[in-house]
Amino acid sequence: MKITTALGATLLLSLAACMPAKPMPDAPDRAEGAAFFAQNCVQCHGRNAQGDGAVAKGLSAQPRDLTLLARDNGGRFPQTKTLAYIYGDPEDDFGGSHLKRVMPNFGEGMALDLVPVDLDGQLTPTPRVLAGLLVYLESIQR
Ligand code: HEC
Repeated sequence: MKITTALGATLLLSLAACMPAKPMPDAPDRAEGAAFFAQNCVQCHGRNAQGDGAVAKGLSAQPRDLTLLARDNGGRFPQTKTLAYIYGDPEDDFGGSHLKRVMPNFGEGMALDLVPVDLDGQLTPTPRVLAGLLVYLESIQR
């Protein structure tokens, strides 16, 4: 039996969307998170998320190795802390202070498309984009 690659991919996607591990309807999956990462994070954090992106060397702070977030948190992926860091504080432009962080805030660009996500045991309305990123980032921990 032969099935086209495109159909195979579609089937895989719909299977992933109704995996019992994530019982929420239309939950963002790893592919969605990976795509967002490729578009917004790779230049600094690198294709393998290990902090060696193309522009990393020229930055005043080194991008974090994102595959070690769980290891450095006693073996548990720090869900809330990580998403909060990525979201940033859109109200705060850091006013040119010395506390200005190198990494941009991403919260501002995130649509108010909220999905319920279990964050550190707490069901939390979370921008869909972040929910996808969470699945992706958790999947690449070493
Ligand atoms: C302009 C470069 C740049 C981009 C783009 C960028 N980052 Fe970062 N990121 C950094 C730097 C540098 C740090 C280290 C802290 C700092 O100085 O901001 C960091 C830190 C982090 C941390 C904090 C880890 C910890 O220590 O808790 C997370 C999580 C993270 N980045 C995820 C992402 C994700 C996900 C994206 C894409 C949506 C992204 N970053 C885009 C440069 C970047």
